[in-house]
Amino acid sequence: MKTYRVAVIGLGVGRGHIEEAWATLPGQFELTVVCDLDAGRRDSVAQEYGCDASDDFDAVIAREDIDIVDICTPPALHLPQVESALSAGKHVICEKPLAGSLDEIERLELAERRAPGVLMPVFQYRFGAGAKAARRIIDEGIAGKPLVATAETHWFRDAAYFDNPWRGNLRAELGGTMTTHAIHIHDMMSWLMGPVEAVFGRMATRIHDIETEDTASASVAFASGALGSLSACTGSHDEFSRLFMAFEHVSFETTRAPYAVGRGPWTITARDPERQARCDEIARACADTPERFTGQMMAFHDALEAGAPPPVGVADARAAIAFLTAFYRSAATQRQVTLPLSDTDPARSGWLPAAS
Ligand SMILES: NC(=O)c1ccc[n+]([C@@H]2O[C@H](COP(=O)([O-])OP(=O)(O)OC[C@H]3O[C@@H](n4cnc5c(N)ncnc54)[C@H](O)[C@@H]3O)[C@@H](O)[C@H]2O)c1
Repeated sequence: MKTYRVAVIGLGVGRGHIEEAWATLPGQFELTVVCDLDAGRRDSVAQEYGCDASDDFDAVIAREDIDIVDICTPPALHLPQVESALSAGKHVICEKPLAGSLDEIERLELAERRAPGVLMPVFQYRFGAGAKAARRIIDEGIAGKPLVATAETHWFRDAAYFDNPWRGNLRAELGGTMTTHAIHIHDMMSWLMGPVEAVFGRMATRIHDIETEDTASASVAFASGALGSLSACTGSHDEFSRLFMAFEHVSFETTRAPYAVGRGPWTITARDPERQARCDEIARACADTPERFTGQMMAFHDALEAGAPPPVGVADARAAIAFLTAFYRSAATQRQVTLPLSDTDPARSGWLPAAS
């Protein structure tokens, strides 16, 4: 088994990747260097974990002893940094949102095809006992056809959270609570329910003096004919995430853990006792599944060792970016937007207003 040497770029949530994965899976990964413009952040992590520290992204990705570059910088930096790290021959992991438009996703697909390394976007909610059991129950045909879903991302963010130059800034963050927070549960929803085909969205900025939306709702139709209602807000004093999905034979409901939607046990209810027994059996078999960054990075290691595609790929980020494209277009025009967009649709270049 190979131990892959990792460079982490950006030490906000990047520190979480280290705590949950890079520093706790020693046979699989070795944290080799951390990179941040903030000297306090990089020195404290380097001291705690005994790795190198740098403020120079280009120098870090040029190092021959690095196998994986884990990009955890603000959103607008993802595209150029992922392209550079792939060109440098590394495997690349990147936080969400992977890019700000479908055109940019295409650039990254091309960059990955041309590079020796692979690109894995971070969608850590998919990892955990609840998500794994649901996926298996659906894949085995026990649940039947999807009918309806509700996805809620109700969190609280105070003014101090936005006291960071990229947060709340449309061009740096690329979007508000739908892009930065609810992207995870919406990824999970379409991973389990199937692709989204039509979106009607509404959004508002009601809590802080920021450029991005902090309150949003959407009505979606899935390609299967199932329907969904989504809401997201960063002013909810009761902080929770919740995904409910009714299928023909089985209903699934997550816990309310705000930041670990994949965590079990989910409430999985079948109408008939035989299906219930099979669901319970699967849930028991999945109970010890590693969750969040631990689960995703372990699965990444397995994929690298097997020469298989990463457990989350650019196609998954493409679906998330397509949904956001449709959501923002719909919120701006107050018309339903259908997916996929045509090859010539100008919305493929993104949802930010044209620079003046
Ligand atoms: N998956 C998740 O659950 C999750 C959670 C939080 C944030 N995120 C995502 O992670 C990214 C970072 O968010 P955050 O909350 O950690 O932000 P943050 O501002 O706390 O941290 C970003 C860090 O990147 C550093 N940085 C900026 N430019 C750099 C450069 N050129 N080279 C090296 N370092 C640089 C900054 O100094 C800062 O320390 C965002 O895309 C965000 O959406 C994901």
